[in-house]
Amino acid sequence: MKVLGIMGSPRKQGNTDLLLDEALKGAKSQGAEVEKLMVDKLNISPCREFYGCLKDGQCTIKDDMQLVYVKLLEADHLIVASPMFFYGLTSQVKALIDRCQALWARKYVLKQIPPHTTERRGVFIGVGATKGERLFDGAILTVKYFFKAMDVSYHSELLIRGVDKRGEIKEHPTALAEAFEIGRRLVSTS
Ligand SMILES: Cc1cc2nc3c(=O)[nH]c(=O)nc-3n(C[C@H](O)[C@H](O)[C@H](O)COP(=O)(O)O)c2cc1C
Repeated sequence: MKVLGIMGSPRKQGNTDLLLDEALKGAKSQGAEVEKLMVDKLNISPCREFYGCLKDGQCTIKDDMQLVYVKLLEADHLIVASPMFFYGLTSQVKALIDRCQALWARKYVLKQIPPHTTERRGVFIGVGATKGERLFDGAILTVKYFFKAMDVSYHSELLIRGVDKRGEIKEHPTALAEAFEIGRRLVSTS
């Protein structure tokens, strides 16, 4: 079983990165093979609306996304992790999601049967500096719609407010343990 973690923050060893590491450790504790994609390190162009994907499900832009498509399709479960930037996902992870229009086209336009035979589940991990009730609303909508296009069910979420400086998450009383647990449960409910 493969769990793919999408690390959407540009800050290595920042709050998102540390939370995702714990979630992946939790998944690994249940025997999953885990991989973390550092999105900021990849060369992923924004979607340019060339719409080649509507013809054959293939994106005409040849960059690191070609490898990401393979990893997304191979994964049994996904974890999307991102800090809130202006009440949304980072532009790095949003670019990756927008480029999945090619996979959306395979499903909704070309009516291709998804290659997966088992239920795929997804987790969203979000972190932000402020404490507003609606802080994660926009990001959750995007992640839910992304998961739907990927044939991934929205399994659970971990939303941490009030965390700002790099690594400040380590001072949070419960977040890292909750992240481990969400990763563990993602796999153990198989
Ligand atoms: C460009 C930018 C926009 C941000 N926008 C928000 C925001 O809308 N709401 C919020 O609560 N925090 C916002 N923040 C703060 C980050 O979400 C916060 O520092 C977070 O802990 C960073 O996580 P990281 O260490 O994983 O990168 C913003 C930070 C940056 C750099």
